[in-house]
Amino acid sequence: MLRFLTAGESHGRALVVIVEGLPSGLPLVAEEVGGELARRRLGFGRGPRMRFEADEVTLVGGVRHGRTLGSPVAIEIANTEWPKWAEEMSPGPGRPSRVLTQPRPGHADLAGMQKYAFDDARDVLERASARETAARVAAGACAKALLAKLGMAVLSHVVQIGDARLSAGASGWPRPGPEDLERVDASPVRCFDPCAEAAMVAEVKAAAKEGDSLGGVAEVLAYGVPVGLGSHVHWDRRLDGLMAQAVMSIQAVKAVELGEGVRVAGKRGSEAHDAIRWDAGTGTYVRDTARAGGVEGGISTGSLVVVRAYMKPLATLNRPILSTVDVVTKQEAKSFKERTDVTSVPAMGVVAETMVALVLASEALRKFGGDSLGELVRNHGAYLASLRG
Ligand SMILES: Cc1cc2nc3c(=O)[nH]c(=O)nc-3n(C[C@H](O)[C@H](O)[C@H](O)COP(=O)(O)O)c2cc1C
Repeated sequence: MLRFLTAGESHGRALVVIVEGLPSGLPLVAEEVGGELARRRLGFGRGPRMRFEADEVTLVGGVRHGRTLGSPVAIEIANTEWPKWAEEMSPGPGRPSRVLTQPRPGHADLAGMQKYAFDDARDVLERASARETAARVAAGACAKALLAKLGMAVLSHVVQIGDARLSAGASGWPRPGPEDLERVDASPVRCFDPCAEAAMVAEVKAAAKEGDSLGGVAEVLAYGVPVGLGSHVHWDRRLDGLMAQAVMSIQAVKAVELGEGVRVAGKRGSEAHDAIRWDAGTGTYVRDTARAGGVEGGISTGSLVVVRAYMKPLATLNRPILSTVDVVTKQEAKSFKERTDVTSVPAMGVVAETMVALVLASEALRKFGGDSLGELVRNHGAYLASLRG
């Protein structure tokens, strides 16, 4: 099993993440983690912070001479803007120079202030901010490195921004494979289809002009997932449930879909499932469709894993339109602006990819075990060999 814990505030000194459960001998360097973090900053429609917020990665523990030691891996992502925030975010005793008393609708501000008895919204928003996902992406880099050793690759692409979406042909919409990831990342909206990409860019420009925001959908694809991750035997061991929880935990994600989950709800059973056939050439069972998203009964089937994350339009707008209340005066006010994107769907896709990778890595470790990478790879290989009929 893989566990990870993040800490740190959006404008604090640094974010930190500890990843526990990685085997020894896994090659890992800070540049690999930095590369994943750079992917999280991608996307047309992101605010100015993304341009000057370089991520400074330090491997603090658990790695020696480019290989994991089997001990917890600790990663620090320094805030390059810290000198500007050192006073406002100081952990030392004192008071902030400016208190935010007008909680922003659609954020954790008001519920967090009431729950934790704060009079300053910054005490909540600093941690609720999606900057925290940088720490998750760093953990995800470790998970992806592990999955690659087991022949698995997880990637994402954007399938909808606002009203602009990929149109499905007879065989569904175009899906990138692991070899297409660079092409997806090179797209300004991380879209694999050039026609839909142009429509998405136009949609973002139109919303930006009006000071408005957009949501959308990113699709996560996991290739090479073997049959047998997750289990039908207990509710909290189901792979679909684990992936849904992990992806739903991403800030502003409001719905998660496995395979054609939403569409098949309106279909007949005869058209909603993935027929099984025996492929004598490879000696495996195959399914030619991915309606179930690669999971049946909470167990991976060996087919392509497909998870879609639906993101709400961002709540902070570039014009003062949403009403709120000042918690001191109780007077109506317009929601203030804490730096905001027009849309973060392309970046959210990278985070969704991360969360799916972390779940798959954890379940792979649970199934195959092993303290060293060599042992894990041997166990995985022996299991695959046992499946060949
Ligand atoms: C990668 C990423 C970037 C985000 N950037 C913004 C942003 O610029 N402005 C904003 O209002 N919300 C942004 N959000 C969403 C908020 O963090 C989120 O809506 C807020 O914390 C409240 O959580 P909830 O929407 O899950 O209830 C972003 C989310 C993600 C995943």
